[in-house]
Amino acid sequence: MQKGAFKKRPFYLQRRPKAADHVEKTGFQVVKSSRFAGSSRHKSSINTRHNHDVITMVLSSPASALDAMRKATGDLHQDLEQTLRVAVPGAGQSEFLSYAAALFSWMAPFEAQLWNAPWPENMRAAERDGKSQWIEDDLRAAGMNDAAIKDLPGSGFTPRLDTLAARFGTAYVIEGAQLGTQVLRKKLSTALPSWSSRWLLGYGPHTAEKWRAFVACAETHLRDDESRHESAMAARDAFASLAAWFRLRGAA
Ligand code: HEM
Repeated sequence: MQKGAFKKRPFYLQRRPKAADHVEKTGFQVVKSSRFAGSSRHKSSINTRHNHDVITMVLSSPASALDAMRKATGDLHQDLEQTLRVAVPGAGQSEFLSYAAALFSWMAPFEAQLWNAPWPENMRAAERDGKSQWIEDDLRAAGMNDAAIKDLPGSGFTPRLDTLAARFGTAYVIEGAQLGTQVLRKKLSTALPSWSSRWLLGYGPHTAEKWRAFVACAETHLRDDESRHESAMAARDAFASLAAWFRLRGAA
């Protein structure tokens, strides 16, 4: 690589630093997003010019399906890792609860529909379904009753689920979150040693295996630029809506 070449690359093309290394702020301005359903109630931190850059970059032949989805969401992930209150040192049960409640109200309305849609068999979609129930169990264990859970406002996000590529993009966000969850579990175990959470346990020792299977399946079924682009845009829509929802609900 030529001297200075790395510097010229946008940060979302660079290898993602570990959460602890995130000292830079993205400096995005808060603008209205028009890229996802229910957007009128959301604020997104996606700078319009930046969003355009991401889309242009994803359009140019991605090396793989994972590459496309990763590039389309890398900046949003980096932003979230820095701003999610549950991830900052000193976070405890109240930060976890606002994060879990927001995640639940974002995911629960479409999760069953996502996994009950047609999937290749080796995706083992049925085994991936039910994470909203994990979070609901955590909310209940923390003292929320049926009425309080029912009263949680919905995010209004309705992902496109009509094509396999779009479903892969949405699933990427949910399945990828399992990786970060393992980091969060370790962080919170110091603050809350005797506390357990079904969501934070996630796939536990099977996390890496489940992630590899997801990626392998995506690579088998998203082989051309068009489907990779479609999955990448669906991933960005899902990620952007979740990040905006976290902010709106005070979890980020
Ligand atoms: C609900 C919020 C989050 C979502 C939706 C999310 C989503 C994702 C996704 C999609 C990936 C896969 C990236 C890829 O390999 O292409 C990923 C990986 C990862 N996430 Fe998150 N994440 C979230 C929160 C966090 C937080 C709070 C942390 C850290 C405290 C974190 C740390 C990581 C790490 C360490 C990886 C592993 C792979 C890597 O470093 O590139 N995530 N996450």
